[in-house]
Amino acid sequence: MTSTHIRHFLADDDLTPAEQAEVLDLAAKLKASPYDARPYEGPRSVAMIFDKPTLRTQVSFGAGIAELGGNPMLVEGKLAGIGIRESVEDVARVLGRQVATIVWRTFAQSDLETMAQYAGVPVVNALTDEFHPCQLIADLLTVREHKGDLAGLTVTFVGDAANNMGNSWLLAGVTAGMHVRVAGPLGYWPSEEMFARANAIGEQTGGSATGFSDPGPAVQGADVVVTDTWVSMGKEAEEAARATIFAPYSLTSELLAQAKSDAIVLHCLPAYRGKEIAEEVLEGPQSVVWDEAENRRHAQKAVLAFLMEQVDTA
Ligand code: NVA
Repeated sequence: MTSTHIRHFLADDDLTPAEQAEVLDLAAKLKASPYDARPYEGPRSVAMIFDKPTLRTQVSFGAGIAELGGNPMLVEGKLAGIGIRESVEDVARVLGRQVATIVWRTFAQSDLETMAQYAGVPVVNALTDEFHPCQLIADLLTVREHKGDLAGLTVTFVGDAANNMGNSWLLAGVTAGMHVRVAGPLGYWPSEEMFARANAIGEQTGGSATGFSDPGPAVQGADVVVTDTWVSMGKEAEEAARATIFAPYSLTSELLAQAKSDAIVLHCLPAYRGKEIAEEVLEGPQSVVWDEAENRRHAQKAVLAFLMEQVDTA
């Protein structure tokens, strides 16, 4: 079964620039007034499935869904054995008969797309190997709170950008009209297709996506500096090699000093102090990582309310 009117949030560019702005406005409104949207009143249930470790995502979705009037239902990924015990297509059709929305953290983006194709209810990406779009709504909300209008701001992502966070920053940042720079060793950038996909959005929004191999010039003049672990979930076997490859891209106070003096620092967490980020940067006055972590809940509530509004008005 496929439903054409059901909207999903699988990748950052599933929202148009206007829709992204609408979701960010709603997130700010819900932060100020947490019980204003009740799309799951009843309550309707939301399945949350995690095939990879989680702290912030599980807790922020769980608390957020409850605030939206719903029942957050944790579906244990290992017990469900999606794609192992039964196919993604079959799981999607079963879950879609029980719950109002499916939130899934898994490995392959293609599995998430299959889930969306068969579920008959909105499916939300709670992180895949390729994208982490809910994190980006939280990040953009955080930047807006500290910097105002997003359009025209420069954000530099230092470190391993050939991952979900790098890809999501390219698409979501450019959708917001930002200039997104990634600084990492050659071979560890988002793909050329991802740059092209972001820059095509930039033709409408005025934003842009550029790669740098030298972190200094990449950070120069930035309004926002972002980093992420060098060892994403699933890459643990490469940990030692990555420590060497990424060492020149550590976000130290010397590197941060090249950004604007009022630049803010984001990190989706968990953070590895002394690796991708120095202790004094993470804990320093420019770091807004705890606001960012809080904003997961407000951002995701806005995404869920937006998607449910499309269902309920279809
Ligand atoms: N790139 C990281 C993000 C963690 C929230 C990972 O995939 O492990």
